[in-house]
Amino acid sequence: MSQDAVVCRGVTVSFTGAANELEKINFTVKPGEYISVVGPSGCGKSTLLRVIAGLLTPTTGEVRVFGRSGPPPERGVGFVFQDPTLFPWRTALQNVALPLEIKGVPKAERLDRAYQALRDVGLADSANLYPAELSGGMKQRVSLARALVEQSPLLLLDEPFAALDALRRERFTYELWRLGHKKGLTLIMVTHSISEAVWIAHRVLVMAEKPGRIIAEIPVDLPEKRDLSLLATPEFAAICGKVRSALANGGCARD
Ligand SMILES: Nc1ncnc2c1ncn2[C@@H]1O[C@H](COP(=O)(O)OP(=O)(O)O)[C@@H](O)[C@H]1O
Ligand SMILES: [Mg+2]
Repeated sequence: MSQDAVVCRGVTVSFTGAANELEKINFTVKPGEYISVVGPSGCGKSTLLRVIAGLLTPTTGEVRVFGRSGPPPERGVGFVFQDPTLFPWRTALQNVALPLEIKGVPKAERLDRAYQALRDVGLADSANLYPAELSGGMKQRVSLARALVEQSPLLLLDEPFAALDALRRERFTYELWRLGHKKGLTLIMVTHSISEAVWIAHRVLVMAEKPGRIIAEIPVDLPEKRDLSLLATPEFAAICGKVRSALANGGCARD
């Protein structure tokens, strides 16, 4: 029996006890599925990712990642935050190796795995550079490599391209799609861009605010193999239109 990658059942989060930041979140993600999450600022997208990663315990409900519900190290989740948060005194290689260092992986092995991860994101030549010597896009790639280095089957990304210009975003989105497929990853990505959300995903979850909740699940019926030429097709535009309408119904339209 194949196991679900993510199961969120009746998840509610209340920070103050007064109002719910997230209310009755229910969804399931299959292994290898790519999910995008869109919604207005403050509706709880980052909170939802933190709950899935196990960084935040829900007030009610439960989350399972490949059947596991333990704390973060047991869950097997890679997380790319909006801000790359690299240590300035460590090289790219040493930053990527950090999660393995924390786990006590021997030095030679962790540096080897960190180097492979940097190679996967196209930064093998920059392994010995410090964050101050890297562009914004390169820093974000290092952050992606750090999320890949533990070889977790689930990758969560919180607006990973927000700081990049439009062309770099397209390129990075494409590379992420390809890398995830090559490695058989399951992916959940929060983004503000409707076109990015539709292009990369099998399904788009649309959220509304106050309380943060899922108001629509829009299937993306596009060819499994994505390429950038899809962006110009009427099928693509029609799905973007559905996402836009769902956001407008929830009180927010972007892109
Ligand atoms: N640690 C926290 N304590 C209290 N309130 C929080 C905390 N984290 C987030 N919030 C609140 O929860 C709501 C959702 O935040 P967030 O998940 O960051 O939204 P989004 O990522 O969709 O912009 C916001 O109103 C935010 O102020
Ligand atoms: Mg956020």
